[in-house]
Amino acid sequence: MRTPIIAGNWKMNMNPEQTAEFVKAVKNNLPASTKVEAVIAAPAVDLSALLENAKGSELKVAAENCYFEDEGAYTGETSPKVLKEMGVDYVIIGHSERRDYFHETDEDINKKAHAIFKNDLLPIICCGETLETREAGKAEEWVEGQVTAALEGLSADQVSSLVIAYEPIWAIGTGKTASSDQAEEICAVVRKTVAKLYDQTVADKVRIQYGGSVKPANVKELMAKENIDGGLVGGASLVPDSYLQLVNYK
Ligand code: G3P
Repeated sequence: MRTPIIAGNWKMNMNPEQTAEFVKAVKNNLPASTKVEAVIAAPAVDLSALLENAKGSELKVAAENCYFEDEGAYTGETSPKVLKEMGVDYVIIGHSERRDYFHETDEDINKKAHAIFKNDLLPIICCGETLETREAGKAEEWVEGQVTAALEGLSADQVSSLVIAYEPIWAIGTGKTASSDQAEEICAVVRKTVAKLYDQTVADKVRIQYGGSVKPANVKELMAKENIDGGLVGGASLVPDSYLQLVNYK
């Protein structure tokens, strides 16, 4: 009943020309969005090229971040209001790289989630533990805390429609994928947390992605797990052929 969602997260890669070429290479071979939602999250500087070239195709577009105010004196920030006006569908928030390098807090992420909904966009909220936390046996508690803080004050309807991406930090860009059982275990914790905060109906609707060295070779096994509804993919989403294999995994 949950539509799978595979999203490429390009991070700080690609320019507008490369973006246009990429979309031209994939746009006619995407699955119907009712079968698998295919999303690309691109840097703000590439969003116009992405949107323009994706027009009329099944491709959905995400921003990699936004601010929690719509406008004002916030040099260098991206307005969720303008993202909506441009035609963007999703915004990734709380990626571990933003939490780590740019010191984003749970509170910032929660404010962004509210701003995203206010502007009729949908958030992809990231969570995930470090290797240290995992080895201390605290991964479940950590992820539960991040999810609880990110969802603070959101309505049941809002939470039913959003996406949560579980990305263990030790598996990002390292080639070290969490085993499908490890990924499933924490994705189940995410769903349980939503059930605890809201109810089972909301928890059954929320879509949960796994992220961390997802590639064509492991996507099927991950997607076969009960609580994994999608992937958030870095490196393997940068090449059209590999992106197409991922979104057409079914
Ligand atoms: O958001 C996607 C991500 O952090 C995983 O990156 O390169 O391990 O697929 P990668």
